[in-house]
Amino acid sequence: MHPTEILLSQDQIQKRVAELAAEIRRDFPNDLHLVAVLKGAFVFLSDLVRHMSGHVSLDFMALSSYAKGTTSSGEVRLLKDLDTTLDGKNVVIIEDIVDTGLTLMYLQDILRARNPRALRTACLLSKPSRRQVDAKVEYIGFAIDDRFVVGYGLDYAEQYRNLPYIAVLE
Ligand code: IMP
Repeated sequence: MHPTEILLSQDQIQKRVAELAAEIRRDFPNDLHLVAVLKGAFVFLSDLVRHMSGHVSLDFMALSSYAKGTTSSGEVRLLKDLDTTLDGKNVVIIEDIVDTGLTLMYLQDILRARNPRALRTACLLSKPSRRQVDAKVEYIGFAIDDRFVVGYGLDYAEQYRNLPYIAVLE
């Protein structure tokens, strides 16, 4: 399997990420705490924060979604927890993609229990036709069809995260 068609170009992604950053900052103009999900969200996060001025803090979590090939099994395991508390903070979860929604639902539930002042979610990509649970996502970069994509942080067997665009894997 290898990447074939480019689904979203570098320019398209950069433009949309700048818009999302502005939208999030409009909703949270003061203190903002971003929680990124490793590893897939690292590129999205790094571009996003560079479009935000003022007080922004970051933390990271790592989850394993027990992926079997290119489909998620629905089981989620916490591999790395946050370093700091969420108590009273305006938190936005930064995810690469929402597919079935199971990973996000799990994450939102555990983070909500830590008493943030606000909890929202930003995903660069969404595959609405694949949703199994109704995980709420306030900021979505692009809705895409049910195809397996790589690049811009997204991998297949740890490869292709470095591509500056998003491509379909066939
Ligand atoms: P969900 O729990 O089914 O929503 O799966 C979310 C996780 O599956 C994402 O954080 C990705 O790690 C992975 N994933 C889902 N679709 C894709 C894809 O098209 N390319 C790469 N990873 C994907």
